[in-house]
Amino acid sequence: MKTLDELYVAIEQLHMEGGWHRPQPSLWPEPKANFLPAQWRYSDVKPILEAAGHLVDHHLAERRNLTLTNPMPGNWYSTVRTLVAAYQSIKPGENALSHRHTPNALRIILEGHGTYTVVNGTRVEMRPGDVLLTPSWHWHSHEAIGPDECFWVDVLDVPLVHLLEPMFFERHPDRLEAVQANVASSPLALRWEDSLRRLDAQTMAPEHGAAEFEIELGAPAMKTIAIHVQRMGAGFQSRVHQSTANAVLTVLEGSGTSRIGEREFQWSKGDVIAVPCWQTCQHHAHEKTHMVRVSDEPVMRAFDFLRQR
Ligand SMILES: [Fe+2]
Repeated sequence: MKTLDELYVAIEQLHMEGGWHRPQPSLWPEPKANFLPAQWRYSDVKPILEAAGHLVDHHLAERRNLTLTNPMPGNWYSTVRTLVAAYQSIKPGENALSHRHTPNALRIILEGHGTYTVVNGTRVEMRPGDVLLTPSWHWHSHEAIGPDECFWVDVLDVPLVHLLEPMFFERHPDRLEAVQANVASSPLALRWEDSLRRLDAQTMAPEHGAAEFEIELGAPAMKTIAIHVQRMGAGFQSRVHQSTANAVLTVLEGSGTSRIGEREFQWSKGDVIAVPCWQTCQHHAHEKTHMVRVSDEPVMRAFDFLRQR
C-alpha cells in the first residue's frame, strides 16, 4: 500500500472505517433533534375509533388500537425514540385475548366504566383517570362487561426493545387467562382518586417548574418507564424546561397550549403530545389541567444520561 487511495480500499474491504475519515461525526455537543414534537387530538381520533368499532371485527383486530406514529421522516412506528403510544377502545361484550411480551406497557383510562383487565390472574377494574401497569412478561387481557365503550391510551417501551432486540411475545394457551382473584386495589392499578389525594397534599411546586404540582406514580412505575401526574391551575404558565428523557403527555382534564421546540399545540382532554429528547417545553394552562407524563426517565437515570434544565 503506497497511496491513501489504496489504504482506504484496504480498510473498506475489511468493513472498517477510519475514525479520521467518517462521513458524519459520531459524537456531537448536545442531543440532535430527531423525533418531532407532535400532537394527536382525541376529538379527531374518537370518531375513527368508533367507526373502527363498526368496521373492524374485534376478533380480527384482537386489539382495536391506533398507533401514534411520529411524523419524523423514515419512522414507521414509534411515538418518540423509546416509547410508542396508541389509542385503544373496547366495546361492551368484547374482550382482548391474553398475551405477554418483554416490553413494559401501561394504560391511561380516558372514558368508560365496566372494563376489567386481568394481569397474571388478578382481575381489576379500569376506571377513568386510572393508570394500569403491565410490566414485562406479565399476562394481560381486557374485557368490557359494563354498559360503556371504554377508551384509553396505551404507552409501551416497544421501540426500546426493538433497539436492544430482546423481543419475546407469547399468546396465552387458554386464549383468556383464568381469573384467580378479583380485587378492588392492586399495586398495578394506580387509582385516580389516590393521585388526586396526593396532588391535593402537595404544597411545593416541583423544582424543574414543568408543572404547578406533580407526583410520581411508583418510583419508578416500571423499570424503563416513569409516570408523573401533573396539575396546573387556570392561567398557570410553566418554566421553559428541557430533559433528555423522551416523553409522551396525555391530557386527562383541562385545556391549554404548549410550545415544544418550534411547534405550538392547543390541547384539551384526551389529547396526546410527543415531547422528544431535549426539546424545550413550556405549558400554559387555560383551565385547571391534569396531564400524565410518561417518560423513559428510569433508563436515562440508570445510565447517567438524565439531564434536565
Ligand atoms: Fe400487550
